[in-house]
Amino acid sequence: MFKSLREDVDAVFERDPAARSRFEILLCYPGLHATLFHRVSHALWQRNWKLLARFLSQISRFFTGIEIHPGATIGKRFFIDHGMGIVVGETAEIGNDVTLYQGVTLGGVKFRPGKRHPTIEDGVVIGAGAAVLGPFTVGRNARIGSNAVVLKEVAPEVTVVGVPARVTGPRVVTGSEPCFPAYGADIGDTGDPVIRAIDRLCERVSELERKLETREREHDQRSDEPCRRLRAIGDND
Ligand SMILES: CC(C)(COP(=O)(O)OP(=O)(O)OC[C@H]1O[C@@H](n2cnc3c(N)ncnc32)[C@H](O)[C@@H]1OP(=O)(O)O)[C@@H](O)C(=O)NCCC(=O)NCCS
Repeated sequence: MFKSLREDVDAVFERDPAARSRFEILLCYPGLHATLFHRVSHALWQRNWKLLARFLSQISRFFTGIEIHPGATIGKRFFIDHGMGIVVGETAEIGNDVTLYQGVTLGGVKFRPGKRHPTIEDGVVIGAGAAVLGPFTVGRNARIGSNAVVLKEVAPEVTVVGVPARVTGPRVVTGSEPCFPAYGADIGDTGDPVIRAIDRLCERVSELERKLETREREHDQRSDEPCRRLRAIGDND
């Protein structure tokens, strides 16, 4: 319990440049308070104390403006920056080292029992006001731009923006950068996807040109062969 609390506090320290001390984090971060409330209400939910669990999550919502359903599963070192207006649905599953900014919704789109909310894998950063709607997976270390509306699966390591969300380009992490991109800011060569596609096309065209040249040379040699033979016969005569 204390280890988990320490990890949650340290997560804030690592990911918010504005945090000055652990004591300040304990006092002034509603995201941390909501996470702590959730860890207790989730434990109650799992022990079938469902009404008490929901009541506790509503108390947390009253104080923090963050609504996390006690049924949601949340991994280690979870960080909610600013908080206010966040909604996490009952069947949402959140991995380790995930960061949410204010106004994020992890919601459902269909009225049906069972899995309705997204699964967020380790290291994902979800920007302010983004909505991730449906029972699909957002892959490891993906970044979701602020105000994006994500309606389908997001591959690992990519950044998506817009409504509906689209990929802006895969990220190349060199390993020398900090492990957390504060605010989802660029930590490597994101690259323009159109330029990458053109680069790939150019490479393919060069490869085809090389193959064509080889074929032409072979063809020329083959078509030269009878002439060379005729010339050789003529010389002998
Ligand atoms: C999506 C995000 C992670 C991208 O960061 P990045 O990799 O550094 O990308 P860039 O800023 O280079 O932008 C890449 C492209 O996406 C566009 N873009 C970036 N963020 C966008 C957004 N939220 N919505 C729509 N388009 C966006 C840029 O205009 C740019 O488009 P272009 O190539 O046509 O010029 C970042 O912009 C973001 O939204 N982070 C969340 C921050 C946040 O919520 N902060 C709250 C703090 S309180």
